[in-house]
Amino acid sequence: MSEQVTINWYPGHMTKARRMMQEDIKLIDLVIELIDARVPLSSRNPDIDDLAKNKSRLILLNKSDLADKRKLKLWTAYFEEKGFFVVTLDARSRGGMKSIQNVIMEACKEKIERDRKRGIKNRPVRAMVVGIPNVGKSTFINSFAGKAATKTGNKPGVTKGKQWIRLNKQVELLDTPGILWPKFEDQQVGMKLAMIGSIRNEVLNVDEVALSLVSFLRTQYAGTLTQRYQVEETGENYEILMAIAKNRNILKKGGEPDYDKAAILILDEFRDGKLGEITLEEPEDK
Ligand code: G4P
Repeated sequence: MSEQVTINWYPGHMTKARRMMQEDIKLIDLVIELIDARVPLSSRNPDIDDLAKNKSRLILLNKSDLADKRKLKLWTAYFEEKGFFVVTLDARSRGGMKSIQNVIMEACKEKIERDRKRGIKNRPVRAMVVGIPNVGKSTFINSFAGKAATKTGNKPGVTKGKQWIRLNKQVELLDTPGILWPKFEDQQVGMKLAMIGSIRNEVLNVDEVALSLVSFLRTQYAGTLTQRYQVEETGENYEILMAIAKNRNILKKGGEPDYDKAAILILDEFRDGKLGEITLEEPEDK
């Protein structure tokens, strides 16, 4: 398991993250922003739009293997309409990386053309990866860079600088991703990030998160809970959770259903994709 975020972003953190991002962004042509395809709004911090103005932009809708494919299309259209280049992705797979390279060139076409007119040849496009914690930044960099990539910069005798990963003649990637801070001030955002597992179970009320998931599923993905746990989707949300505990034989010592363990079970199974391909937000929710 990678280190998951605890909610410990405080203003000092954000100011520092923002300042570092501002410095790094000066060095690059293209911002590759990862967002989670299951929560494209909640896993995004729009501050990046301000920080990255005048840069080429690419959005990667990551973890799309876990997302609802119909909503994935809606989200792709939503971001494309806002002027972003968009690619849907499973960062763990090397498969889609070639097409990302092509999209990067497309997104930076104007810069390449500008260089050409000025007589600058073969200057690689420089890019950086940004996103909130746990969205898949390191996984993406590993898949994208692969073994072939060589690191540049920080050579002995050379002024200490940034580490760049040279992907090929055309693209260089800053090796440390920029970390964006989630918009925790919005309760709903915190709740959705908790559902997908971006916030550690220990720092929040697991029962509350599970109940919120039950409530969402029975209204938006009716039949999902019945299919997985053979429970009726009627009554109160907590009754459904109790029924899940009973059907799965998750019992306390005295034989009573173990509500807390059932809450963890349903969250784990949702995060693993065992409840199916599910997206928690639609563009209209905005
Ligand atoms: P970060 O740098 O942005 O913080 O994220 P990182 O790459 O560490 O990825 C966080 C977790 O998300 C990792 O799982 C990683 O395997 C998983 N992940 C990244 N991209 C995808 C994707 O496209 N689809 C799916 N399903 N998962 C993805 P982990 O918690 O380290 O362990 P595990 O869950 O893989 O066992």
